[in-house]
Amino acid sequence: MAYELVEVRTEGGKVGIVTLNRPKQLNALNNQLMDELGAALRAFDADEAIGCMIVTGSEKAFAAGADIGAMATYTFADVYKGDYITRNWETIRSVRKPVIAAVSGFCLGGGCELAMMCDFIIAADNAKFGQPEIKLGIIPGAGGTQRLPRSVGKSKAMDMALTGRMIDATEAESCGLASRVVPLDKLMEETLGAALMICDYSQIAVMAAKESVNRSFETGLADGVMFERRMFHALFATTDQKEGMDAFVNKRKAQFKHQ
Ligand code: HXC
Repeated sequence: MAYELVEVRTEGGKVGIVTLNRPKQLNALNNQLMDELGAALRAFDADEAIGCMIVTGSEKAFAAGADIGAMATYTFADVYKGDYITRNWETIRSVRKPVIAAVSGFCLGGGCELAMMCDFIIAADNAKFGQPEIKLGIIPGAGGTQRLPRSVGKSKAMDMALTGRMIDATEAESCGLASRVVPLDKLMEETLGAALMICDYSQIAVMAAKESVNRSFETGLADGVMFERRMFHALFATTDQKEGMDAFVNKRKAQFKHQ
């Protein structure tokens, strides 16, 4: 697929990086951009050499939301029958290797929802998060009212969804939306550091950890714990478990083969 609205590159052939690239519209998300993002992530996911992915935007905006201009004239019939806007938004959820959101600048509406669909968020100190849809006479439509309360709790999620106010990076970290905050000029360095670290671990264990944590969002505690236990048991069938534990016992660095 030819990419126009995203830039795709790798770091060391191991980390797949997708940069949203609609700068004039602050990376407002339209169908074409979401198609390209989904295709890029799927291609990286299928690439044996890639161990982790990063989705990022520009210094000014990770993404300022879904494209309001494109949505402005839609009718209920358009959006319902065509499944517009949301049709291609969930592709990212089918990706099995980790995806980190590296967020600087505005991360609003669908942009915030996209960041929350990633596995974790590293925020630059200039990041601003919000669900301002209420100001447009709508509500979040790509998981904002569902994923936000699961990560920040009901009160903060209600505050953000009902008032539409933005929170800064410090508030986002303190409420659990972002996993860490770093200076803007260190955002990619720090995110790549995390991604490369993940690439060096057993890919099977990494995928199992992602699947298991995601299970906690989608099931009750007893089922989730049972799922985790079976995944844990299954990892004892891997060569990487033997390697990881042998390396620890013999005080050397593990060399995982992803098998
Ligand atoms: C289309 C957008 C846009 C958006 C910004 N732009 N956000 N275009 N959709 N979401 C465009 C502006 O129209 C403008 O174009 C250019 O980007 C620069 O924006 P400015 O407003 O001039 O910049 P600034 O004054 O710095 O303000 C930045 C901002 C503001 C605070 C982020 O742009 C803003 O409030 N944007 C809308 C945020 C929003 O409501 N997001 C939620 C969308 S609904 P021109 O051509 O004038 O230069 C949503 C639903 C998700 O996301 C549903 C998922 C299924």
